[in-house]
Amino acid sequence: MAVKITKIGLMTSGGDAPGMNAAIRSVARTCAYYNIVCVGIYRGYEGMIEGDFKILTARSVNNIINKGGTILKSARSKEFRTKEGRKKAYSHIKKANIDALILIGGDGTFTGGLLFSEEFNFPVIGIPGTIDNDIYGTNYTIGYDTALNTIIEVIDKIRDTASSHKRLFFVEVMGRDAGHIALNVGVGAGAEEILIPEEDLGLERLLMSLRHSKQTGKSSSIVVVAEGDKIGKNVFELKDYVEEHLSEYEVRVSVLGHMQRGGSPSCFDRVLASKMGVKAVESLLDGKTNYMVGTINNKMELTPIKKALKIHSEINKELLRVSDIMST
Ligand code: F6P
Repeated sequence: MAVKITKIGLMTSGGDAPGMNAAIRSVARTCAYYNIVCVGIYRGYEGMIEGDFKILTARSVNNIINKGGTILKSARSKEFRTKEGRKKAYSHIKKANIDALILIGGDGTFTGGLLFSEEFNFPVIGIPGTIDNDIYGTNYTIGYDTALNTIIEVIDKIRDTASSHKRLFFVEVMGRDAGHIALNVGVGAGAEEILIPEEDLGLERLLMSLRHSKQTGKSSSIVVVAEGDKIGKNVFELKDYVEEHLSEYEVRVSVLGHMQRGGSPSCFDRVLASKMGVKAVESLLDGKTNYMVGTINNKMELTPIKKALKIHSEINKELLRVSDIMST
């Protein structure tokens, strides 16, 4: 029989993402709407292990919808990967009379949440929050849209200097395991080539493409490289490689780094986060557990967390084709 939910624990975990605060606000306010207590768990699983909890009322989430980062803070916890760590966390959760958890994060967060839920038979719902957009079961994760807009703005600026100096820029963007960010900003910013983990372009093809663009009259170029691409060289090694093989190119490198995770969330992310927060609380009240909320074709849907973790989110092949045509 489903447990009657009167107190929900809420946390953010893993890499932060713009819009997490909007999701926290949404969960806290939906709880208030249904007369449920919402308990904020600080610093992800680290805070769960230490019992670092604070009640979140509808008013304690005022003025955060526009803020980047997460007011609950975040962490990647090593201790929670151990059975001992999870036992400590469970004892604090029980002591605080928390009946269910809402976890905002990415696949690491959900892997921990699923283990916890199965070990202690505890209701859990996930909200996908990561700039990487690499989670199966949702077309968009919270933070992705904002990150794309942040990155595009920066690459546009890089283009100004690249074209003034007739240079080639390798721009490294985040995405350890997935190329969604690189592919989308690459197309949006008019990149010459896009290197992503899902498709190994190969060094020869890269050289051919750059040679071709010089021959067809391009004076400057931008190549977007996902952090986790599989070409076998990092951006600095790529610079050396290209300069060595194509002497006509003067190359510079720009690694965008963690600025991609910051900033005020876009309207899209705020709305998405608000909708996901409502759906997460209502799903728990409906007796659902071990699901992740997601938006699929503009509808809120639930996907079993197990499935979300198992299935790889596919790269958009059509966008790859568009990108090829655009670099003609
Ligand atoms: O998962 C989101 C992400 O931003 C990845 O794109 C990136 O590889 C990673 O987090 C960086 O993690 P950290 O901030 O722990 O170095």
